[in-house]
Amino acid sequence: MHNGYCPNQNCPCGLDPEKVETLVECLNIYLANLNVLFIKLHNIHWNVIGVGFFDIHVKTEELYDFVADQLDKVAERIKALGCYPLASMEDYLEVATISELPSGNISTPCAAKIIVEDFCSMLSLVRKIDSVAKETLDECTIGLLVEAICFFEKYIWFFSAYLSKCKN
Ligand SMILES: [Fe+2]
Repeated sequence: MHNGYCPNQNCPCGLDPEKVETLVECLNIYLANLNVLFIKLHNIHWNVIGVGFFDIHVKTEELYDFVADQLDKVAERIKALGCYPLASMEDYLEVATISELPSGNISTPCAAKIIVEDFCSMLSLVRKIDSVAKETLDECTIGLLVEAICFFEKYIWFFSAYLSKCKN
């Protein structure tokens, strides 16, 4: 990993270098998770089976499109802070806190449950990074994370509603 803080000599960013280094370490874990999630959501998109196939197949496309956009923004933010984003599958699997799924059939309820669980983990991670970004006074990163918080909260609601059963 190459997380060393290396500010642009021509334009110091004005942020505390030690705080930026801690923030970038957190952002790289988030970036690794986004990459694992990107592949995992494709796995579900392709291998989901059962009643509700079309719902999960179509929705996962919406999810991985957001994740793709977010992972590029996070990596570019790390570059703008003068550091290196992790950029290999080996690095991602080493630091990610989200686990992969084996390649094979997955039922629609299991798919929805996995999405809710992973999104809850992502939401909790993003909130922690958000507090580090606030301590660092890094407004740009804070803005990026707000978008992610809204996204994860919305889809935790969607997939929890999908999973809930009628009690009557
Ligand atoms: Fe597709």
